[in-house]
Amino acid sequence: MSAAAKRISRKALVTGGAGFIGSHVVSRLLRDGWSVVVYDDFRTGRRRFLAPHAGDPRLSVVAGDALDARRLHAAMAGADAVFHLQANADVRGGPKNTRVDLDQNTIATWNVLEGLRRRGIGRLVFSSSAVVYGEPDVFPTPEGAVTTQTSLYGASKLACEAMIQAYSSYYGIRAEVFRFVSWIGENYSHGVIYDFFKKLKKDPRRLEILGDGRQRKSYLYVGDGVDGIFTAFRKAGGRMNTFNLGHRDFLDVRELARIVVDEMGLRGVRFEFAGGRRGWPGDAPFVHLDVSKMRALGWTPRTSIEEGVRRTVRFLAASPWLLRRA
Ligand SMILES: NC(=O)c1ccc[n+]([C@@H]2O[C@H](COP(=O)([O-])OP(=O)(O)OC[C@H]3O[C@@H](n4cnc5c(N)ncnc54)[C@H](O)[C@@H]3O)[C@@H](O)[C@H]2O)c1
Repeated sequence: MSAAAKRISRKALVTGGAGFIGSHVVSRLLRDGWSVVVYDDFRTGRRRFLAPHAGDPRLSVVAGDALDARRLHAAMAGADAVFHLQANADVRGGPKNTRVDLDQNTIATWNVLEGLRRRGIGRLVFSSSAVVYGEPDVFPTPEGAVTTQTSLYGASKLACEAMIQAYSSYYGIRAEVFRFVSWIGENYSHGVIYDFFKKLKKDPRRLEILGDGRQRKSYLYVGDGVDGIFTAFRKAGGRMNTFNLGHRDFLDVRELARIVVDEMGLRGVRFEFAGGRRGWPGDAPFVHLDVSKMRALGWTPRTSIEEGVRRTVRFLAASPWLLRRA
């Protein structure tokens, strides 16, 4: 690298950088010339997701728990920006474990914010969720809609957003908060398509679907989502921004199941519905976010939801190791 390039190269810390979305953020940062520190304890992340960058001297990996503040803050030394993707990304577990979202999302995010403050780091990207809206009245749902909590996961993410706002106001940290719909694509390792794929591998004659199959959701292909994050990171002005990151379209769960079945080359699969309007406590029957704020920055998803789902199934079919471990 030339001396000039060295001077302008920037360093990012990515918490959860070995996860589904984090690994794509890492790839994008490296592609854009950043050096990157991944901070991850691999509880759901996979070293294999980072394998394409093996040997790249700009990438280092610190195996550590986000609740280990001392280790985390040490890893943040010299960073210009933090991309905080670590979390308990399992939205369903709240009723059974009422502590996990508080620890893994809220406290872990406070640890990250303290690291920014102590290290004087001026930029933060945070992965929030459409779940913070609970069951809204307005569709597509804009960022300013009233939030009503129906899950501890959503509540913990909203608490993170509020703390980020306070830190941003106290210490001048510039923060981009993104409320994601469900992301799909390569490195997808949890969620509805993963569950369908696994069940159908076990028994290709029938598929159990949670709820009545009429839940409608937006999905976003990971390549488009990462483009969105970096578009806002580059272009958004002001100190703190909150952006919905979703798709103009949505699918109901039965349509989703049909695409998965078709891409797997299966025929005559019997769908069995568990019943009820929601798949689990806290599941929103309809998720469709208004993305005009992101569109105003010139971003729009290019991949149709169907194509994203098909790519996800192809990725899972080519990754039997991923299903073995879970
Ligand atoms: N995937 C989605 O559709 C979606 C939707 C909305 C929001 N989000 C949010 O986006 C972010 C990334 O989600 P994802 O789907 O990539 O999840 P993921 O589980 O694949 O990634 C999370 C990463 O964080 C790591 N991690 C978790 N707890 C840790 C801890 N205590 N210490 C260190 N590392 C830890 C995991 O090992 C993993 O690599 C999360 O904040 C999630 O809440 C995801």
